[in-house]
This record gives sequence, structure tokens and C-alpha cells, in this order.
Amino acid sequence: MTNKLMYFIGNWKMFGDFNSFKIINKINKFNLRNKALSKKIKIILCVPNTLIYPFRKKLKNKFISLGAQNCHYGDVHGPFTGGVSAHMLKKAGTEYIILGHSETRLDGDTNQLIKKKIESSLKQKLKVIFCIGETLKEKNKGKTFSILRKQIKDSITKKFNPKKIIFAYEPVWSIGTNKILKSNDLKKNIKFIKEVCKKNFKIKKSPSVLYGGSVNDKNISFFSSIKEIDGFLIGGASQSSKKFIDIIKNYYK
Ligand code: PGA
Repeated sequence: MTNKLMYFIGNWKMFGDFNSFKIINKINKFNLRNKALSKKIKIILCVPNTLIYPFRKKLKNKFISLGAQNCHYGDVHGPFTGGVSAHMLKKAGTEYIILGHSETRLDGDTNQLIKKKIESSLKQKLKVIFCIGETLKEKNKGKTFSILRKQIKDSITKKFNPKKIIFAYEPVWSIGTNKILKSNDLKKNIKFIKEVCKKNFKIKKSPSVLYGGSVNDKNISFFSSIKEIDGFLIGGASQSSKKFIDIIKNYYK
């Protein structure tokens, strides 16, 4: 079993209220009982904006980090009704931010807009969880590689430090559908993302690349044999502390 640092990131999407802190409490208790394991994993919970500040105040240790799920592209403040900037999220206590998720791309995020969001998030010293992935149509047309390459190149300029960006490969057709890739395709695509980053940013060590899409406590063992994966972005199953903890436990079984 791998000894490298593995990310387990929860994406709560538009779910959760103040009572949901009990999910965090249970994950914390799991951590306290499993000190050796907790050194090998990084848990980040990306919660709705309304919960960042109250959860930050309640979180007593650094084991669990908080993340946001999107931001406005505007830098700090501006006439953007309903907008929340990376600066505001940072002030509220977030350390990480998901950007480029396919659900926000569906809402109008383009590679160019995502680029601005990445820039303003990095300026605020947030760590970015950058989501990329092909649709089913693109996959069927054999366009997966060109789509992934374009999403990376169009949204990240060469001057960015890829250490501050964690990649999350999420095939759109796999999100919330219970469909996952064949092992070989998954390996191939993750390797491809790492290679593109190395070439594009002229770096020796590839960035962390996570997998996301229908990961749950039942299928996680399938992923444990794929050493190219550096962690997981977990949607639906992260809204239950039991499922989230079982994902971690079963990964290391
Ligand atoms: P899912 O979502 O685990 O529910 O498929 C993943 C995501 O949207 O990040």
C-alpha cells in the first residue's frame, strides 16, 4: 500500500447547514483514533460559502482543512451582485478552493473565466483544486486528451506554480452516475495529465492528480490499485461521515 500523501476531498455541493458540523466532528474523532493513518492523508472539506466562517471558528485542529467550491473572477471587491471573491473567501477562513468543476462550467464557466478565478485565488494564497474532464460525447469522439490539454493550457499560465494547484480529473459522465472508467483508461488519462503539466510548466515532479466521479465506500478498493492517483474528490458520498470514513478505511484495507 502506498505511503505517499493521499488527498480525500469532500465536495458538499449545495448541501449542508450549521448542524452538518457533526460530520466534521465524526471525521475528527476518526482521525484521533487513527493517528498513524492521519499522517498519510489530507482531508479537505469544500463546504457551501455560508458554512466556511462558522466551521472555521469551531474547528479546533488543523487536521481538516476547509475549502470553497467556486468564486467570482473579480479580484477583491466590485459591483458584482451576488458575487463572492477569493479575497472574501480567504477572509472567511478557507484555505482551498475548487475551480472549474463541470457543474460550474455548465453554469457558464469558460476556460478563460476559470483562468481569472485561478489567478485571483492564487493571489489570495488559496490552494486551487482545479477540475478538468471530458463529456461523454467528447470521450466517444476520442477527444479526451485534446480536451484535457486545452483545459489545462487555457486556464493555467506558465508563470503559475503548479505546487499550488491540485488537479482533479473528473470525467463529466462519471459525476453522480455510478459509472467509472476502466482501469487502463483511468491510468492512461491520469498519466497524460501529469505529462502535460510537466511539459507545459517545465517541471520535473508532476503535480498531484486526484480522481473524482462516483467514488464511494464500495468501489474505492478498485482505485487503490491505481498508483497514479494521488487522492479523490468525493461528491455525494462526502455528505455522510460514515461513507466518507469508510472510503478512507477501505482504501487502506
Ligand atoms: P460524485 O461527485 O462523487 O457525487 O460523483 C463528484 C464531484 O462532483 O466532485
